[in-house]
Amino acid sequence: MSYLKEKILKDGVVLNNNVLKVDSFLNHQIDPTVLKEISNEFIEYFKEKEITKVMTIEASGIAPAILVASHLNVPMLFAKKTEPSTLSNEDQFSTNVHSFTKNKTSRVLVSKQYLGLDDKVLIIDDFLANGEAALGLIDLVEQAKAEVVGVGICVEKSFQPGHAKIEEKGVDIFSICRIASLENNEITFVEEGN
Ligand code: G4P
Repeated sequence: MSYLKEKILKDGVVLNNNVLKVDSFLNHQIDPTVLKEISNEFIEYFKEKEITKVMTIEASGIAPAILVASHLNVPMLFAKKTEPSTLSNEDQFSTNVHSFTKNKTSRVLVSKQYLGLDDKVLIIDDFLANGEAALGLIDLVEQAKAEVVGVGICVEKSFQPGHAKIEEKGVDIFSICRIASLENNEITFVEEGN
């Protein structure tokens, strides 16, 4: 069993049938051992992909993404949810990301300067639910005519449609933990091999 799964079983808190709280080790307080183990798993899975850039979206994706980028010795680029005063409209790629969890649509953007034709991009995020954040990041990479070589997710809620939507785009997706259900206050993982 992966270290992250063990940690989720030990310290994850089921808030309701849809939400798993992991803020004691993944997206508020961060346990560096968990992050190192996560990073090793992503590297092992995506190592043949000739990645030139790791990409994520602020805020919680940044921690796992920077570890993976550091391992690969490539830059990490995160999509911003607020527009920097130093970046004009014509110098940015932008897209809308709707969060069903938060019932909010945000415009997210990256500078055109940091994403180009020759990039092979690995997208990393902490959670995958409906897939809107990952699809938004894929859209930004496509606008730059760069290549998405894969999507790496720490915790996937497999009972929500994100995984299927990314597969439908023909993108290789690897999730370290796939949660089948949070019902009855119990965390059930998707069986390995499914
Ligand atoms: P989606 O991108 O897959 O469509 O997911 P959704 O809109 O439903 O989720 C939006 C935000 O909620 C994301 O954070 C995501 O990490 C977080 N989230 C979704 N499900 C869970 C869950 O079960 N537990 C926890 N702890 N978080 C969840 P965000 O808006 O990008 O915010 P940030 O925290 O990264 O700044």
